[in-house]
Parts: sequence; structure tokens; C-alpha cells
Amino acid sequence: MNAAIRAVVRAGISYGMEVHGIERGFSGLVGGDNSRVFDLGAVAGIIHRGGTILHTARSTEFYEKEAQEQAARRMLEAGLESLVVIGGSGSFRGAQALQELGVKVVGIPATIDHDIPGTDSSIGFDTAVNTILEAITRLRDTATSHERIFVVEVMGRESGYIALAAGIAGGAEAIIIPEIKPDLDQICRRLLEGIARKKTHSLILVAEGAAGAYDIGQKVHQKTGLETRVVVLGHIQRGGTPSAVDRLLGSRMGAAAVTLLHRGYSGLMAAQRGTEIVAVPLARSFIGGRAFPEDLYELSLVLAR
Ligand code: F6P
Repeated sequence: MNAAIRAVVRAGISYGMEVHGIERGFSGLVGGDNSRVFDLGAVAGIIHRGGTILHTARSTEFYEKEAQEQAARRMLEAGLESLVVIGGSGSFRGAQALQELGVKVVGIPATIDHDIPGTDSSIGFDTAVNTILEAITRLRDTATSHERIFVVEVMGRESGYIALAAGIAGGAEAIIIPEIKPDLDQICRRLLEGIARKKTHSLILVAEGAAGAYDIGQKVHQKTGLETRVVVLGHIQRGGTPSAVDRLLGSRMGAAAVTLLHRGYSGLMAAQRGTEIVAVPLARSFIGGRAFPEDLYELSLVLAR
């Protein structure tokens, strides 16, 4: 997200705009006194840092009309015409509400969950998958030495995309996702077949929205008699040095968002479509779900065994 903030500031200044950074997202906007002018130097030395220098907050109050009106009022009072919102579908719903109150808004998709409709990717996903891969690589050493089954829980809310991507790239033996009811008997049969083929270790990746990893670990142990260990990666997945892919994506989307505002557009999301950054209606990001990646799922069934 810092790469996107840096790009918004620097692209904005290059268009002759005055750019303000608002701390703590919508909460900061409603609370007031959380905005300050960002010059070129304010975003120096941040592109390699995870998280966001602006801090963030999950604002439940922003679901309320009153809070939205207060935010729009505060923006007008501070002379702020347009807003770039970096976040997921929930943030874009809030952005849309502000646009209906007269604020010009453009969204930049950022979530490790990869669950925003209308864009091929979002900032943070690639870094999170790489972090999971690093963890899996480390866990495999113990899994192999002790001939154990590791059950690793990853994030993703209701989406199994991050588990599928990391599971395929990390060579997992089984991937459990919320979109497909898991067949534990089949998974255990496959694990035992692998062991009969002299496999010394197995890794099951579980998306948090599908099941609890401890529950899966216990059931797999009961069904196979094999020793299992459970690792919940949690917020480790959300921090650390952003990957080159994410830095580039954040930079491109940040600059594109400002260009859209400069050209007078509003109510859009700077989205990735193939190799291009394109503009799609903001509402596309929260109306209808993201299509299930059938092809990735099919691939996982062929490869994960
Ligand atoms: O949406 C991103 C995400 O990391 C989800 O994968 C996870 O379920 C959630 O946020 C965790 O949220 P919090 O940090 O508020 O516990």
C-alpha cells in the first residue's frame, strides 16, 4: 500500500495538485484533524515497507449515513475535492457513499484475499503468497525429517484463492478451500497412497474460511493414525517487505487513480486487466462476487497428491 500512497502523492504533485494524507481511513476522515499535506519527501523511503504509513482502521461507524455525511462535510470544509481510497470491497462501498454525497472518488484494490470483483489482482496478494511459500519451505524440513503431516492455515476470509495459489505454488498435498466442501476421506486416502509411494512428508493447506486447521489436523490423525502438526500463519501473511510485483502494481494503480481524478472522472476503481491498468466502475467491486477460479481448482486436484 505504501507504493500506492507514494505514487498518488508524486503523481498528484506532478499534476500540480495539493495532496493530503488522511490517517486511519474513514475513521480518520470522520474524526477530523487527521489530514496533513504530503510533499514529495513525505513519501520518501517507504516503497520497501509493508503495511501503510497512513495507518488504517476497520470503521463500522462508516456504515451509518450520519458518519458518511460528516466525512463528506469535513472534506469540503478542508477544501479536499477528491479522495483515493485504498482497500477492499467494504472500503469501496464507503467510497461510493461519499461519491453520492459529492466527493470525487477513485479506488485502488488492496487485499491479500484476492476477492475483489472487477480486477485481476489486488495489492498485497503476491507478497502474502510469497510469505506463505517461505513458511511452507521451512515447515517442509521438519515435515520431512520427522515424517509428519503439517496442516497450515492461511487467511482469505470467505475466499480460497490465496490457499489455492500458495498450495499449487508450494506443492501442497491437499488444499481445503471454502468454495468446495472438503472430502476428508479422499484427502486421507491420497495421503496414505503418497506414503505408500515412499513420500516422507505431507502438507495440507487450509483456507481460514473453510475450516479450522486444528480440527482438520485432529480428524486427519484419527483417520490415518499419522502424526500431524498444525501451524496458523495468521498476520505474518500481512506484513514484511512487499514483493516487486506488489510494488509495481501499487505504483501503477496509484498513478492511474490520480490520472483519472485529474481528467475529471469519479466513481471508478483502478483495476488490473491482464497486463493493463484500466478503469472500472467502483460498484463493480462490490456487486456480485468474484468468479471462482475453476481452472486453478482443477489444476490443484491434478497436482496436489
Ligand atoms: O481481509 C484481509 C484479512 O487479512 C483476512 O484475510 C483476514 O480474515 C482478516 O483480514 C483479518 O482481519 P483483522 O486483522 O482485523 O483480524
